[in-house]
Amino acid sequence: MKISEPRRLSKALITGANGQLARALMRAAPPETECAGLTRAELDIADEQAVAQAMQAARPDLVLNGAAYNLVDKAESEGMDAALRVNALGVARLAQACRAASVPLVHFSTDFVFGGEKNTPYTEHDTPRPLGVYAASKLAGEHIALAASERNFAIRVCRLYGPTGEDGAGSSKKPSGNFPLLMLRLGRERDAVRVVNDQVGTPTYTPDLASAVWQLVAKADGGLFHLSNAGEVAFDEYAREIFRLGGVECAVESVTSEEYGAPARRPLYSTLANDKAHAAGVAPLRDWREALAEFIGTL
Ligand SMILES: NC(=O)c1ccc[n+]([C@@H]2O[C@H](COP(=O)([O-])OP(=O)(O)OC[C@H]3O[C@@H](n4cnc5c(N)ncnc54)[C@H](OP(=O)(O)O)[C@@H]3O)[C@@H](O)[C@H]2O)c1
Repeated sequence: MKISEPRRLSKALITGANGQLARALMRAAPPETECAGLTRAELDIADEQAVAQAMQAARPDLVLNGAAYNLVDKAESEGMDAALRVNALGVARLAQACRAASVPLVHFSTDFVFGGEKNTPYTEHDTPRPLGVYAASKLAGEHIALAASERNFAIRVCRLYGPTGEDGAGSSKKPSGNFPLLMLRLGRERDAVRVVNDQVGTPTYTPDLASAVWQLVAKADGGLFHLSNAGEVAFDEYAREIFRLGGVECAVESVTSEEYGAPARRPLYSTLANDKAHAAGVAPLRDWREALAEFIGTL
């Protein structure tokens, strides 16, 4: 699993380059690695010809897939085709082009592949049980990436937040960018917000994650990995911490997932155990509270 000499990469191609993780990956790249970031407008990962042309033009020695269809609730009404087009077919296109060029693909997946029946952190050996359309499409993408080559990575991550684009959004379809930014905006507009108290996981800061990803791809030879900040928290407590750190006076009304009634079912517990990544040589990520304090301090 571990490779004897850390891999040195001279050029990485990064898809979905407007996304919050893609931005962090480009910022955290090692000095010897040149990054070619392509936004959705520049490269639709489901377009086979466009992917082949982008590979030809960039000639990377690694591809990091930051592109995803991430609209968890909308996916329930929009249906499987839209989610699969990006999260499975797009991954297949990239995996095919990477195999043809003999370069590894680094793909990202989600804690939502799990069903939430555990109450201790999920390992890479636990059996996924996706509860919704988005989650099922992400599980399909992992399988495609890992089946295409032993050198490919599928890295499951959890509750991402971090610096976003100039318009305040990581994705043009997610106007609030991420949970801390959404809470800060709502908290300044309202006296109270309703937040679920029964979904536990780990908020993860994209700059911390990006640094861990670069360590992992330098030191491991591919495979399935979990990466997140340390610790875990339910969403209502997470919202309270955001308000405390942001100095926002807003009450958090705790509700159950059933009372909240989002269109997509989500796992009630989805903390990811990072032990496999640590064994591969990735330094443990800091506690989520410390990372959140740093992020809110930058706003
Ligand atoms: N965000 C989370 O809380 C979370 C949690 C668990 C796992 N993940 C996974 O982590 C990864 C990164 O997520 P993120 O938060 O950085 O996502 P993000 O901010 O939504 O970025 C995704 C990017 O993909 C682009 N995109 C969509 N369809 C595309 C296509 N067909 N071709 C090329 N680009 C396309 C989007 O373009 P536009 O900007 O034009 O929309 C967007 O810039 C994803 O694999 C996601 O599933 C995220």
